[in-house]
Amino acid sequence: MTVTEETKATHVFPVTQVTESRRNAVNFQDLRFGDVFSDHMFELVYKNGKWDNGQIIPYGPVSIMPSANILHYGQGAFEGMKAFTMENGAINVFRLRDHYKRFNDSCKRLNIPSIPEEVFTQAILQLVDLDRQWVPKDKFKSLYLRPFVFATEEFLGLKTSTAYRFYVITGPVGNYYREGINPVKLTTMPDYVRAVKGGVGNAKVPGNYAASLYPAHVAMKEGYSQVLWLDAIERKYVEEVGAMNIFFVIDGKVVTSPLTGTILPGVTRRSVLELCQIWNLPAEERMLSIDELFDAWREGRLTEAFGSGTAAVISPVGVIHHKGETLTLDTEKMGPVAERLYKAITGIHHGTEADPSAWCTVI
Ligand SMILES: Cc1ncc(COP(=O)(O)O)c(C=O)c1O
Repeated sequence: MTVTEETKATHVFPVTQVTESRRNAVNFQDLRFGDVFSDHMFELVYKNGKWDNGQIIPYGPVSIMPSANILHYGQGAFEGMKAFTMENGAINVFRLRDHYKRFNDSCKRLNIPSIPEEVFTQAILQLVDLDRQWVPKDKFKSLYLRPFVFATEEFLGLKTSTAYRFYVITGPVGNYYREGINPVKLTTMPDYVRAVKGGVGNAKVPGNYAASLYPAHVAMKEGYSQVLWLDAIERKYVEEVGAMNIFFVIDGKVVTSPLTGTILPGVTRRSVLELCQIWNLPAEERMLSIDELFDAWREGRLTEAFGSGTAAVISPVGVIHHKGETLTLDTEKMGPVAERLYKAITGIHHGTEADPSAWCTVI
């Protein structure tokens, strides 16, 4: 086992500690996703042209004016990342730099002033270190980290805000899907689209998710976990899933949609492609039409489908529905490629597999 050199989480931000931790009230054996939050959060304020007043405070309500830009025009961005307890007891914040870069890109697209990388990094490391008792100890559980920024200027009218707040909240999580790591069911929704080129599909911003909720609701009513989005122009090319990038194994090759501006450049997607490269497993980033996918399935050439995401890690897909036709893969378990990736990625998370390329920030 190789462990990346430990980084000291230097404590530069002032801290107001909770008087009593809520941790004892949490059942760490039965964690779901996104419903439990740790004791503290990080706060940073932008005004008069600069980010300042970084501090760690008890997790709690945030007060903004009813006229704040975020509530009307949605100028905001966020990230989703995880910290893990490693086999040796240290804590691993996974692919911190990659998440920062994507956050910065999302901010740029929404014309939100950039947060310096060292501030973002330091905030996360100090916060995770302070609440390290909240990082679940067992494998396949983690501390989910949610950095987010939003515009707070009191002004009604469409313009870039001059005031913002940035927070990081965290919470212990188990599996993202109710299915656990069992295969999920997806459906296309050709009447709806998620993103168009030139829009904000490749940024992690609230509006993308808000717009996906109604189609996702319809899909769920019909028994599917998430929507498999098709491209917005021809409504034919497979793009991604609600909160995951999508991969297929066709003719023994791993295939995923290219980053053409309409899908989120997933950090896990990147880990998958990098691992395929290390393993000499052929992988292609290319346009794949839903018809080609179904043809490959009919001809027995489609052997696996799986999603990748920070929340979902590697989630096998067992069923894909499209316009009255249903493609079914092994609905009982993961295929061999998905399983190999799942084991490698979770192994790197928990320090039982070598870190391929400085993916881990260990504190
Ligand atoms: C729309 C969308 N696609 C893909 C992903 C996967 O990205 P990542 O692997 O960086 O979590 C996510 C999750 O953040 C997502 O929300």
